[in-house]
Amino acid sequence: MIVARPHNFYTLAEGKPLPSNDSSVQVRIKQGGGLVLLQDTQLIETLAHFFRERIPERVVHAKAIGARGYFQVTHDISDLTDADFLNGIGKKTEVLARISTVGPEAGSADTIRDFHGFAIKFKTAEGNNDWVFNNQPVFFVRDPIKFPSLNRSHKRHPATHSTDADMFWDFHVGSPESVHALMFLFSERGTPASLRNINAYSGHTYKFTKKDGSFHYVRIHVHADAGVKNLTNDEAVRLAGTSPDHLTLDMFNAIEEGNYPSYTVSVQTIHPADVALCPVNMFDMTKVLPHARYPLRPVGKLVFNRNPINYFSEIEQAAFSPSTMVPGIEPSADPMLQARMFAYPDAARYRLGVNYQMLPTNAAKVPVYIPTERDGFMNFGANYGADPNYVNSSVHPTGFHDAARWGYKPTEEVLSGSVVFTSEITDEDFTQPRALWTNVLSKEEQETFVKNISGDIAAVKRDWLREKVFDLFRRVNGSLGDRIEEAVNKIVKV
Ligand code: NDP
Ligand code: HEM
Repeated sequence: MIVARPHNFYTLAEGKPLPSNDSSVQVRIKQGGGLVLLQDTQLIETLAHFFRERIPERVVHAKAIGARGYFQVTHDISDLTDADFLNGIGKKTEVLARISTVGPEAGSADTIRDFHGFAIKFKTAEGNNDWVFNNQPVFFVRDPIKFPSLNRSHKRHPATHSTDADMFWDFHVGSPESVHALMFLFSERGTPASLRNINAYSGHTYKFTKKDGSFHYVRIHVHADAGVKNLTNDEAVRLAGTSPDHLTLDMFNAIEEGNYPSYTVSVQTIHPADVALCPVNMFDMTKVLPHARYPLRPVGKLVFNRNPINYFSEIEQAAFSPSTMVPGIEPSADPMLQARMFAYPDAARYRLGVNYQMLPTNAAKVPVYIPTERDGFMNFGANYGADPNYVNSSVHPTGFHDAARWGYKPTEEVLSGSVVFTSEITDEDFTQPRALWTNVLSKEEQETFVKNISGDIAAVKRDWLREKVFDLFRRVNGSLGDRIEEAVNKIVKV
């Protein structure tokens, strides 16, 4: 992005040259001091603009780092999708990424224990495509109505305005489907050593589609080529005090030094004919698709090789959304994904305004033509001139027709069922967390998990709530619950 410096003198925002940009116009008084004048437009603008510098921060994922780079196709997946940017080995697509913590505010420390968001905007030849992922493969809830409650319980208590262990654990005890995600949060992966050493996962099942109407269900995985590396809890806590932007600067400096972070993108696939064989509900993002049955198929490489020049204009003003998709990728019936299709554009309209797609950082690199969306605050385009602002005009035919580049037959996905409220918890919710505990975590990682989580639970003030938390983890594994109880009791009795 070029920073324009047309003259060697300062001007007002309207272009008038200024005699001085560091002094206000004053009536000098004999006794000393001075009176400023309402006619001093520069002074008034300077103050008024400063007071309006803040825009609402993201309600979640407020603290972040941005990076630019490219995605390059390394493997042929033309049997799965006709999406242009995923086809043609060697093809490169420009990307903009934003990697964030979730709960705390924009000014918070970035090493604190949390999930990390991993949002990628691909500027493709078919319009923008966004992947808005997290660094853990599962999410805490599977019903979108719980999303605001989940996040409030991780944020600040309405009275104390502080994070609150009772509120956090009360939510999770009341929503036990979150236990799988909690296992990741309190594992070593809850405190990454570097954002160059985290993975990212779609979590949701998406659809990759072909022009003939065929499709596969997919889950997308992004693996750090440098491997996953983590901080200990003590290191993370120390850095939060001594270097609160540790992860931000680590990433920025690595890119500045030419040590470009890279990641491998791959997919797990399910053919629609094989859905009944899937051992889990693939639209439930509290569950993973087991690797043994659904092996990873490599697709391409993601490389970050450029830092933003201006954080506010390129990253804070960026708007990512799972609804931003190109032909060849479609949403699935995951209720969380369906809710997110609405949530992000709605949040962007609130945070950035109704014309947020026009901001340079969000603008597609292909021509955009939607003359039925026009006007609105801060519309700085040509606003479609005199083109009809209603559909199907015979008076002013534009020569455009629907989906000129589309050429896709609709995918046939038959969905049926009764209308219900559904939130039941079953033993299946504990199977995969148990597999993580028993089969994946080493003895040392188990030890660390118990240490990490017991320190947090020990801050719960109510004895009965702590008992409920122990019982939650007993459902994962009896001895896990016992070990947590023992470790918590040692801390509480000190
Ligand atoms: P696998 O043994 O094939 O997969 C286990 C996966 O766990 C690894 O491939 C790795 O995924 C991830 N992993 C490795 N070490 C750790 C760690 N210390 N902390 C957290 N995750 C780790 O078996 P399944 O696919 O059957 O999964 C078994 C359990 O593993 C699941 O229940 C889930 O809890 C966890 N898991 C599964 C993933 C999946 O998509 N199937 C992804 C991540 C975890 P990665 O290479 O992505 O880091
Ligand atoms: C940011 C809503 C679930 C990843 C956000 C924002 C909202 C939101 C409102 C702020 C957007 C903005 O102001 O621009 C929701 C809702 C969810 C949900 C309603 C569930 C129903 C998830 C899940 C993931 C995720 C499951 C990951 C798999 C992210 C990321 C960001 C984000 C990475 C930051 C995007 C950025 O960098 O701008 N979410 N979210 N969210 N969310 Fe979600």
